[in-house]
Amino acid sequence: MNEPGFLDYYRARGIIPTRQDLTDRVPHLNRRRALYLQLGIVPAFLAGRRVLEFGPGPGDNALFTVLGNPETYVFVDGNETSLEHIEAKEKAGEFEGVAVEKHLMDFLAFQDDRTFDLVLAEGCIHGQEDPAAYFSHIAGFVAPGGVLVTTTQSFISIFPEICRRMVKPVFARRHPDFDDQVKALVAFFQPDLKSLQGMSRLHEDWVMDQILHPYRKFTFTIAEAIDTVADSFDFLGSSPRFATDWRWYKSMDGSDPGINDVARSCHAAQAAAFLDYRITPDQVGACDGQLLERMCEKAFDLHLEIWRDDDVARLPEFADLTTEIAAMAADASPGTARSLIDFTHGIRALAQGDMAADFGSFPTLYGRCLQFVSFVRRPPVSGQAS
Ligand SMILES: C[S@@+](CC[C@H](N)C(=O)[O-])C[C@H]1O[C@@H](n2cnc3c(N)ncnc32)[C@H](O)[C@@H]1O
Repeated sequence: MNEPGFLDYYRARGIIPTRQDLTDRVPHLNRRRALYLQLGIVPAFLAGRRVLEFGPGPGDNALFTVLGNPETYVFVDGNETSLEHIEAKEKAGEFEGVAVEKHLMDFLAFQDDRTFDLVLAEGCIHGQEDPAAYFSHIAGFVAPGGVLVTTTQSFISIFPEICRRMVKPVFARRHPDFDDQVKALVAFFQPDLKSLQGMSRLHEDWVMDQILHPYRKFTFTIAEAIDTVADSFDFLGSSPRFATDWRWYKSMDGSDPGINDVARSCHAAQAAAFLDYRITPDQVGACDGQLLERMCEKAFDLHLEIWRDDDVARLPEFADLTTEIAAMAADASPGTARSLIDFTHGIRALAQGDMAADFGSFPTLYGRCLQFVSFVRRPPVSGQAS
């Protein structure tokens, strides 16, 4: 493994740690349907359409998309294991009646003269060395009037997960073998995983992907996504739906700032609310989102060093920084601050060798880790239907 990043890690280990628990498929399909509605993708949109999905992983999410009866479904993934899972689904008849194509390659190497009605890139942009360059390349395949979907995350939204990653040095020292680490961490995180409503990923996959995955810069924010494609796309929807659009319909004649600006400013105003999924923005008081993002970035950078070197001795340094972040969030969201302080007590005790350390209310704290955003490609001539 020379470069940290999705592909190097997954390929070196022969894994695709994003498998859903599909014992009962119904909740999974319900979730995907509700998500697509938040993104503005109504069921009738898919019939007879061309779909292109980058980074499908095991194809569990495609199981819903294909129910809309697209004409063509093209998958691009650089991990053999991902495409093997998709092939197994194909053999099991999951994609019957749909022309499926699979391309094993880096996203940037994919070229095609066709354009597509729906282009998906879920959970696979933020880990790239240059996320905007990847997103821009991917956006180039969307037909006029077609929809582009991606996921985003900020330093704020992943901060609780970054805190969790700080237990890894302790476990790596006690369990040098990777599989043993996975087992021990699955057991350790049971309170966290059980508290998470809607947790649908296999627990060992969550550990491999969230805790043991070597990260580099791991963000691609909503603002960055909008900025990357604003020249030719309009913001369409998101999950969560953070944008409220109060423009008068008659003012939307092309001379107003447009939906991309509305989405940008709604997100900026609510940035701090992405720190704690347990609450909604109306429950969060005033907080300087930009400053909070910078503090969380500082903590992220420190975590990279501690995680890489399994440097248990520096865990108190991370706890100190978390205390500062908790202080910043205290007025706006006291419950969030309390959970972060609980984390600092737990991590200090764990660093001292107390494997039964008490993390108080922290196990129930998750950020709004991954968000989804969708865009629609403008027709070539403004004002023309497509
Ligand atoms: C985190 S998984 C997401 C899987 C799935 N979309 C989901 O949301 O559950 C990222 C996927 O993108 C693929 N991937 C990441 N970077 C890639 C790249 N640069 N080129 C090709 N495939 C890549 C990985 O192999 C993996 O299948």
